[in-house]
Amino acid sequence: VRAARCEGYGGPEVVRVVEVDDPTPKRGEVVVRVGAAAVTVADARIRGARFPRGFGRLGRLAFGIRRPRRPILGGTVAGTVIAVGEGVDRFAAGDRVAGSTGMRFGGHAEQVAVAVDRLARIPASVDDVKAAGVLFGGMTARWVVTEKAPVKAGDRVLVVGGSGSLGTNLVQLASAAGAEVTAVTGPDNRALVEGLGAVHHVDHRSVDVFERPERYDLVIDTVGAVPRTRARSLLAPGGRAVLLVATLGELLLARGDVVAGTAPDRVEDVEALLDLVAAGSLEVVIDDVLRLDDIVAAHRRVDTGHKVGNLLIRP
Ligand SMILES: NC(=O)c1ccc[n+]([C@@H]2O[C@H](COP(=O)([O-])OP(=O)(O)OC[C@H]3O[C@@H](n4cnc5c(N)ncnc54)[C@H](OP(=O)(O)O)[C@@H]3O)[C@@H](O)[C@H]2O)c1
Repeated sequence: VRAARCEGYGGPEVVRVVEVDDPTPKRGEVVVRVGAAAVTVADARIRGARFPRGFGRLGRLAFGIRRPRRPILGGTVAGTVIAVGEGVDRFAAGDRVAGSTGMRFGGHAEQVAVAVDRLARIPASVDDVKAAGVLFGGMTARWVVTEKAPVKAGDRVLVVGGSGSLGTNLVQLASAAGAEVTAVTGPDNRALVEGLGAVHHVDHRSVDVFERPERYDLVIDTVGAVPRTRARSLLAPGGRAVLLVATLGELLLARGDVVAGTAPDRVEDVEALLDLVAAGSLEVVIDDVLRLDDIVAAHRRVDTGHKVGNLLIRP
């Protein structure tokens, strides 16, 4: 099968489409023919060995010292089961499934082997692009608004970076919970985030949120634009901030009303998100859908830091 292999750390051009061995399902796994896979900031960060400040060495220890240990990137996939391993009775060939491949990655390929406990069935009305598109940002957004900093009706919520993969999900899920959402994006994405439920918009090119008088019950930073030391100045009494692009220092020091962390990887969240998409309650914003052969262009687009929602490849 064909796969996009990351041959070293570097710019988008270190990724090459090559022939690799067909994956075979181990016990408890299925092989999925990939219908769509997201190309995310996580993929681009690993490819470029660009880890948040303080994580440089730790990142290479985790992902590979000289080159990615798992050279086929891609952590969220949707597609069709084509082979089942021993002990698998939940899925059969032909079933449509989506999920996160976790630290094994491997989604940027025509086929990938995935443990069945990571996969959810895709509702018939949801296509592979939407199913793969909702997961990366959706899983983190759902964790933030339901668990890390539960959003209540009437909360004033500031989403810094409202138009990306995380932001488009955060704006929608917080609005659906009854929050009054302010989204920070560039000028071109104002209409988008308002359409997703934001009632206020701040253009980060012309306005500094720290200079504004408004205070929030919850501040969610998906950009790394809110330092831990300044987050509190945006908060109303009792408010909290969740820093999703925290430096190592921030992660270690964050506590109390300014928190940081990494979303867990749970199949229940995959199921819940796919149900929301099927019900028409969650829109999957798509930046572009490219071919596997366009993987370098896909990484370039992610590297701009200005993709709108989610970028998918269809192997
Ligand atoms: N902690 C966790 O569990 C976790 C999980 C997943 C991802 N992350 C991190 O979250 C970050 C965001 O991921 P993503 O997938 O959402 O990225 P993305 O899709 O690339 O989002 C980029 C968005 O940010 C906006 N933006 C850029 N600069 C901005 C600024 N100064 N102020 C406000 N908005 C700005 C852009 O909007 P405009 O084009 O309109 O400027 C763009 O729409 C990544 O760094 C990723 O590593 C953390």
